Amino acid sequence: MIAVIGAAQRPAEIAGSVRPPVAPSRPLALWLFAACLLLAVLVVVGGATRLTHSGLSIPEWKPVTGTLPPFGAAAWQAQFDRYRATPEYRLANPGMTLDGFRTIFWWEYTHRLLARLFGLVLLLPLVVLVVRRRIAPRLAAQLAGIVALVGVQGALGWFMVASGLVDDPRVSALRLTAHLGLATLILALLFRLALGQWTRTGSGPAPTARGRRLRAAARGLVALVFVQLLSGGLVAGSRAGVLFQIFPRMGESFVPAGLWTLTPAPLNLLHNLVTIQFTHRLLAWTLVLAGGLFVLAVRRGPSPRRLCRVATLLAAALALQFGLGVATLLAGVTVGLGVAHQAGALLVLAAAIATAHAAGRSEETAALAVQGGGAVGGALEGSHVAEQEALGMRFEQTGLMPATEHPDGGLERRAGEVGELLAGQADGDPHLAALRLADLARQAQEEQGEARLDPVARQLDDAVAAFDVMTGQGGKQQPEQ
Ligand code: HEM
Repeated sequence: MIAVIGAAQRPAEIAGSVRPPVAPSRPLALWLFAACLLLAVLVVVGGATRLTHSGLSIPEWKPVTGTLPPFGAAAWQAQFDRYRATPEYRLANPGMTLDGFRTIFWWEYTHRLLARLFGLVLLLPLVVLVVRRRIAPRLAAQLAGIVALVGVQGALGWFMVASGLVDDPRVSALRLTAHLGLATLILALLFRLALGQWTRTGSGPAPTARGRRLRAAARGLVALVFVQLLSGGLVAGSRAGVLFQIFPRMGESFVPAGLWTLTPAPLNLLHNLVTIQFTHRLLAWTLVLAGGLFVLAVRRGPSPRRLCRVATLLAAALALQFGLGVATLLAGVTVGLGVAHQAGALLVLAAAIATAHAAGRSEETAALAVQGGGAVGGALEGSHVAEQEALGMRFEQTGLMPATEHPDGGLERRAGEVGELLAGQADGDPHLAALRLADLARQAQEEQGEARLDPVARQLDDAVAAFDVMTGQGGKQQPEQ
């Protein structure tokens, strides 16, 4: 017989080679997701601030005292006077009225206020959680690192604004790109942590070669999306989007003239508007193609349903973003389309990260769960009422599926039905579901006893074997004869 696994034992103890699963914390995840949402709004408001030419309206950086807006006519006039001393007012907006100033002021002010709020939304709960020891030290350290990056981002924002308070009142495209890049990096890190809290399990079995390829490809997509975001920042910052307002050609051809006019050649990538727009288009084509191929690869073999879903979402988000980019270009970069295109980029980034997260798990898990679930289901069908009830209780205990009463008082499920249910569970938390099922199957087998080995226990044996393979114990734990 296979050794009995007590109900009180943790699933990871069943499979010695598997790292203990760490219970996910949904409240922590919700907090982090909320922070991500706030950051996304902050980034989009930043984009609107740029597109409405409001970014240079507050020519000072007072992280604490600048929290309050001007109160009363005198304070507004003083704020306006400070703006009137800037090169932007003199060269771009001479004759702007106080009312006109208020509009651009409120955009920039809201952006800065949201930034402060975001810092607090991260920092305050973090401090409370650390003081009350309600957060794992590793996660606390990661979040503290992100809070530090938020501080750097604030300084970088001012560094960017300062570059526009000079005789040529336009912020440096490179600094704008760095500001956008750091914002999206923070968003990416936070989102990844949030996902980890939502569905964290043990490390699970080593992925197969296919699993490793899918994971590497998904990570490659995340990196490519990030590079494309930086490229978009350069297009926006250098206003390269007002060139070549046609698509798919750029001028007379797909590859425009004047791509490499600056020397040394790499300078063109940063300062030549033709090259900047061309690179953004080229990366966009590459991403849409790569996203499409990735979905096909995911769907061609056994893959967890979650991975199929997020990969499809990624491909759809990329197609939408591509369309929005073309519309933004053709319309000559209107505020509405520019903002939508920026928000779309954040959606693409989130989808790519979620895909890489889902691909981090063994792609065979779902298929094996169906297989093992089917075997357990078959066992349930064949066993006696008392045993069915015992198994039903076990299912309830594991939380894998609710036991439903059969008219005759027992629990009966068709194999496929059980398999589907377990696959559904495995989809949410595959490794944990698999480990629990292995535990369940062993206990069930113990309950069947030697006398009832055939055919019920054989099916259970199949389930145990399937999960042993999956949990890296294949061949190590054979039933004693
Ligand atoms: C499919 C993937 C794409 C991604 C992830 C992406 C991402 C971005 C990002 C992050 C920005 C900067 C937005 C800002 O800071 O406000 C941007 C700007 C821009 N993108 Fe894309 N883009 C994509 C495709 C395209 C395509 C296909 C086109 C057109 C052919 C395009 C045209 C533009 C233009 C014109 C801008 C400048 C908008 C502005 O000045 O506000 N994009 N893109």
